[in-house]
Amino acid sequence: MQESPFLRACRRLPVSRTPVWFMRQAGRSLPEYRKVRADVPMLEACARPDMIVEITMQPVRRYDVDAAIYFSDIVVPLKAIGLDLDIKTGIGPVIADPIRNADAVKRLRELEPDDVPYVTEAVGRLVEELDGRPLIGFAGGPFTLASYLIEGGPSKNHEHTKALMYGAPELWGDLMRRLSRITLEFLKVQIEAGASAVQLFDSWVGALSAEDYRASVLPHTSWIFEQLGGLDVPRIHFGVGTGELLGLLSEAGADVVGVDWRVPLDKAAQRVQPGTALQGNLDPAMLFAPWEAVAERARDVLDRGRAAEGHIFNLGHGVLPNTDPEMLARLTHFVHEQTEQ
Ligand code: CP3
Repeated sequence: MQESPFLRACRRLPVSRTPVWFMRQAGRSLPEYRKVRADVPMLEACARPDMIVEITMQPVRRYDVDAAIYFSDIVVPLKAIGLDLDIKTGIGPVIADPIRNADAVKRLRELEPDDVPYVTEAVGRLVEELDGRPLIGFAGGPFTLASYLIEGGPSKNHEHTKALMYGAPELWGDLMRRLSRITLEFLKVQIEAGASAVQLFDSWVGALSAEDYRASVLPHTSWIFEQLGGLDVPRIHFGVGTGELLGLLSEAGADVVGVDWRVPLDKAAQRVQPGTALQGNLDPAMLFAPWEAVAERARDVLDRGRAAEGHIFNLGHGVLPNTDPEMLARLTHFVHEQTEQ
């Protein structure tokens, strides 16, 4: 079988068409998702193979996307090692006892594959069902996980996180090392079960200056990517508001850098290291505009994407909950039609 356009673009090989998938393609924008989730809390859904398989497949059935993304959440491995946390609708992850001292950090134990048997089972079933279409595994990046743990929930300014990062560098290092090991293990479980690419969502690193990112986050993320290096699975690295960090996100060892909508892809291509493909970057809010405007912008993303060594079409961040699925269907078709060789 010919290797998929998605994996070929990750590897910077010529493609028969520009591959496309959407971050958060599964979820509240789909009525079929709202239906199956109606009586099942988010974290319970993430621990049930039947739910994981169904929700992962829903967007694949609806859109002709070139990859599926495993249905889970970045806090699932933290829940699996026993942290008292929940995902609240409209808010996000909420942690009962925020982690702000050495005792709390020391309680963060390693993740074992046996902690997440449902991941192994669901990935295996998905690979079978997807029949050659790649499955993307994912995990949260260390800064983003740390921010949820330290703040206790979503945060605009990350003030407690930065207080710990600047004020207690050794404790910060210990926390980052522990989170990196958990993330690495969570990704490895997905890869060993058959995921064919992985994405590290360090969504909130854009809160840091390049200098602080280099000193306090990059060494840990580099370690994760290095450990994954021998597994022959493309590594995608994504964050929001990372215009100033794009070079460092690729330096960390990613094969593909995900770009939000703030930096045009031709400019982003100049900022990443040679040998890096790009993923992105239509503004997700753009999908609320009339189709003609969407098509014009999508064409612009494709044109600028040609400056990259490989381009995977995506949004600049996740699909917004009120997005009309019809828009995503049209957009997927449009990207394929415009780029078919
Ligand atoms: O389709 C996919 O992309 C796969 C599923 C996925 C989810 N979360 C499911 C989810 C992925 C890749 C994530 C990653 C994730 N989770 C990130 C990184 C990606 C990003 O958007 O930057 C972050 C920061 C989180 C933390 C988190 N979990 C947030 C901010 C939220 C949204 C809160 C809300 O209700 O607005 C969640 C909950 C969540 N994760 C939902 C889904 C489908 C919504 C849950 C629901 O249906 O109520």
